[in-house]
Amino acid sequence: MSDSWWRSAVIYQVYPRSFADANGDGVGDLPGIRSRLPYLRDLGVDAVWLSPFYLSPQADAGYDVADYRVVDPLFGTVDDARGLVTDAHELGLRVIVDLVPNHSSDQHEWFKQALREGPGSPLRERYHFRDGRGDLPPNDWPSIFGGPAWTRVPDGQWYLHLFAPEQPDFNWDHPAVADEFRTILRFWLDLGVDGFRIDVAHGLVKEAGLPDLGHQTEWHLLDVGESPCFDRDGVHEIYRSWRRILDEYPGERIAVAEAWAPTLDRVADYVRPDELHQAFNFSYLATPWEPAAQRAMIDASLAAMSRVGAPTTWTLSNHDVVRHTNRLMQDLSGDVAGRRSTEVDPVAGLRRARAASLLLLALPGSAYLYQGEELGLPEVVDLPPEVRQDPAFHRATGQDGYRDGCRVPLPWSGSTAPYGFGPDGAPCWLPQPDSWAALSVEAQDGDPGSTLTMYRDALALRRKLLTGDTLTWRDAPAGMLILDRGPGFRCTVNMGAAPVRLTPPGELLLASGEIGGTPDEIELPPDTTVWWQI
Ligand code: NOJ
Repeated sequence: MSDSWWRSAVIYQVYPRSFADANGDGVGDLPGIRSRLPYLRDLGVDAVWLSPFYLSPQADAGYDVADYRVVDPLFGTVDDARGLVTDAHELGLRVIVDLVPNHSSDQHEWFKQALREGPGSPLRERYHFRDGRGDLPPNDWPSIFGGPAWTRVPDGQWYLHLFAPEQPDFNWDHPAVADEFRTILRFWLDLGVDGFRIDVAHGLVKEAGLPDLGHQTEWHLLDVGESPCFDRDGVHEIYRSWRRILDEYPGERIAVAEAWAPTLDRVADYVRPDELHQAFNFSYLATPWEPAAQRAMIDASLAAMSRVGAPTTWTLSNHDVVRHTNRLMQDLSGDVAGRRSTEVDPVAGLRRARAASLLLLALPGSAYLYQGEELGLPEVVDLPPEVRQDPAFHRATGQDGYRDGCRVPLPWSGSTAPYGFGPDGAPCWLPQPDSWAALSVEAQDGDPGSTLTMYRDALALRRKLLTGDTLTWRDAPAGMLILDRGPGFRCTVNMGAAPVRLTPPGELLLASGEIGGTPDEIELPPDTTVWWQI
């Protein structure tokens, strides 16, 4: 196996507005993240991925970028970003930043110019402006956030936005767009970042002529057939040119694709040797907690990525989906992100989430963790409408309208909100539940039974023991999965509803929950994972 750092890296997603607020304005910021880097080093992750912190009107929490080379004052300055990267490197952590190339903000200078110059201006060609069909939009594409993907401007033309109206899509057929993004990559690489997470990597190229979809009224992200705007073959040339830039820099700078494609083989195309390094495995994220389904998806993921020589990635939570403490308890059919989250039994939800996390961390490849999962945070399901900020929520019919529940700021310490997220008494952009005092870092630190301790132990063991990239399934009783990684390591998971008795295969290293039975015959309760040295 190659020893490239990213092939087995654990990468922790920081959602800047909800991680740590140094200046007390209620929104997390770069100085806040900087101050908490030692926590991430101690947790044992290899790298940090930061969601966008660039200049932005925040119509979609920073995924609407007005200037790709400026840090939004909400989060700090470019010097703060530089300092964060320097500090992280000193602590042995790498830093990946988010790149948003599919669309800009409607406050981006290019879009403002396009509006000013009017129909027919070459400056409109950097976006997709079209005349409508009478009073109707130029085609029938829906926006992912609900409503049509077109908005009309005062001079009568329409522009395309696959997301919110404040997020106009770039026209990637225009050479200036490609040139601009190559220089943006270099700007951040020169500043020292170790890589990029590519937002909507599957969306940049649209089919010529922007043809109608026909009958479809909503995008189905994992379930698209051939689409006029997603996963077009043309995107791969862009990523080949980016790979050449990444390879010019020392230290193995990487890119990870947020690419929703119809099959794992299509996802693997993004990580061919001359393209990006990793792609998120949303198919795994959407797999129900059931042994046959899990095993089949794990095998299919490994097979698809090994075809192109790329590491598989594994994720259970991120800032767009219901936290896996809740999501794995729900019926996912037809709802990849588990977006209509409801209350679940918090004890059962956490038990299952911890079991799932230990399984994920035992798999070969690279693991992506989302901030707060190491604390076992639940999805917040009862945010009142007036505090919600997800643009899709306010566009009502959107399919991703409930993302605020996984974005509630982290509890660090203390017994009252903001629980150390910001200075005492400071506001918090989304309200934290009263129950979160017991889930804070301070409350869990040093407690042998806490989720935080389990993650710290798991990451330390993974670093030490889980080096090979092979996985071997062992025969398992009904409801269970048993897998070996290289010589000496076994992971057993009970996904069934009943406890299972088994002879310990070796020395117990770590368990996601309490184990019953005797030393000669243990009893593995439902929703429990155990790591063994064999
Ligand atoms: C995917 C991001 O993860 C999500 O948060 C965002 O709303 C869309 N892309 C649009 O940029």
